[in-house]
Amino acid sequence: MTSTSTLTMFFLTFFAIFSLVASAPAPSPRDVFSPPVLYPGNGTVWRIGHTYNVTWDLKGAPTQITNSIGMIVLVKNHLMIDLEHPLAKGFDIRVARHEITVPKVEPGHDYQILVFGDSGNTGAKFTITK
Ligand SMILES: *[C@@H]1O[C@H](CO)[C@@H](O)[C@H](O)[C@H]1NC(C)=O
Ligand SMILES: *[C@@H]1O[C@H](CO)[C@@H](O)[C@H](O)[C@H]1NC(C)=O
Repeated sequence: MTSTSTLTMFFLTFFAIFSLVASAPAPSPRDVFSPPVLYPGNGTVWRIGHTYNVTWDLKGAPTQITNSIGMIVLVKNHLMIDLEHPLAKGFDIRVARHEITVPKVEPGHDYQILVFGDSGNTGAKFTITK
């Protein structure tokens, strides 16, 4: 690879990441809420097709949340899976749990849950089995 294409790759990657972050309108920092995931946590095992409550911590939540509409995305090896079809969306983030059904994915030990409010927080790595 030439150094030019390496540089191009770098900028494309950079802008791909940046546009994800920048596409949301910037709320005032005190109202921003990225819910920390409590469950699933380290040691959790989920079975494909079963239903679980994802839970998150509301302790750090500002009284006025800019965006109270949440979204839950499955992450594997630090990549978001099927962002077009999140595990859940359109629910109220101020309720500290939401039921999801584990989709048909490759069993693995490197899954994480990402809960979005204004921005996202990934939880601990957990396992999905058949
Ligand atoms: C997960 O839990 C195991 C067993 O309790 C522990 O050994 C390990 O350090 C934990 N990993 C993380 C990332 O907290
Ligand atoms: C999720 O939590 C709600 C409220 O506690 C409960 O009614 C429901 O049965 C739970 N769902 C699962 C799959 O545990």
